[in-house]
Amino acid sequence: MTTPDEKPFPERLRMPATPVLETERLILRPLRESDAPVIQRRFPQWEIVQYLHNEVPWPYPDDGAAVNMAQCAEKMAKRQQCYWAITLKGGDDELIGRIDLWADDGVRRDQRGFWLDPAFWGRGLMTEAANRVTDFALVELGWPHLWLSNAEANIASHRVKEKQGATVIERTPRGYVSGPGTKVTWLLTREAWIAHKAPPP
Ligand SMILES: CC(C)(COP(=O)(O)OP(=O)(O)OC[C@H]1O[C@@H](n2cnc3c(N)ncnc32)[C@H](O)[C@@H]1OP(=O)(O)O)[C@@H](O)C(=O)NCCC(=O)NCCS
Repeated sequence: MTTPDEKPFPERLRMPATPVLETERLILRPLRESDAPVIQRRFPQWEIVQYLHNEVPWPYPDDGAAVNMAQCAEKMAKRQQCYWAITLKGGDDELIGRIDLWADDGVRRDQRGFWLDPAFWGRGLMTEAANRVTDFALVELGWPHLWLSNAEANIASHRVKEKQGATVIERTPRGYVSGPGTKVTWLLTREAWIAHKAPPP
């Protein structure tokens, strides 16, 4: 249902139901409403939010995760976006981070978002999660490309894209939780991804 002043969601941007995806060390499973309390516990950390866009409320309110979860649940139900909880294989199924994917609307030039609890940083886990979601988008869904972006100062996020074979397209001003910054926009084509993911000969 759409309200009179709300534009209908274009069918061409409709996503499949979020599938369970597996990597060597991770299970990426659909986000669920019961994940909200653990997100409220893990997400509001300066290291996580500093380079996120300034639509993220900061200081993070007590109902921040619940409010965001309601928005995610609606978009998932309407097949507008895929949302995965990142969980450790062989673990207790608890969310340690999140990765999201949506279709190219021709305007936004951004199609993937992710964060991980700092307790798990520096082990290549987001590289692993992002690679699996990228393969889902560019190989399983057959998309021709992915638009990606990050704050220029966000070296780890920059590096995940660089390693995947993405190319910097432009740098533009953007507001982040930490203040004004520069947004780097990248394009990752299916061809570049396939070339980069191939194991070395
Ligand atoms: C971005 C983020 C998800 C990376 O998670 P991670 O699991 O630690 O990433 P990885 O271990 O896969 O590392 C990715 C690359 O970044 C590099 N890297 C990580 N932190 C770095 C740092 N502080 N300085 C330089 N390089 C860094 C890693 O060495 C690795 O590159 P390499 O394989 O060449 O060594 C994590 O830092 C995070 O949650 N940040 C906050 C949220 C965020 O910024 N999301 C992205 C918004 S665009």
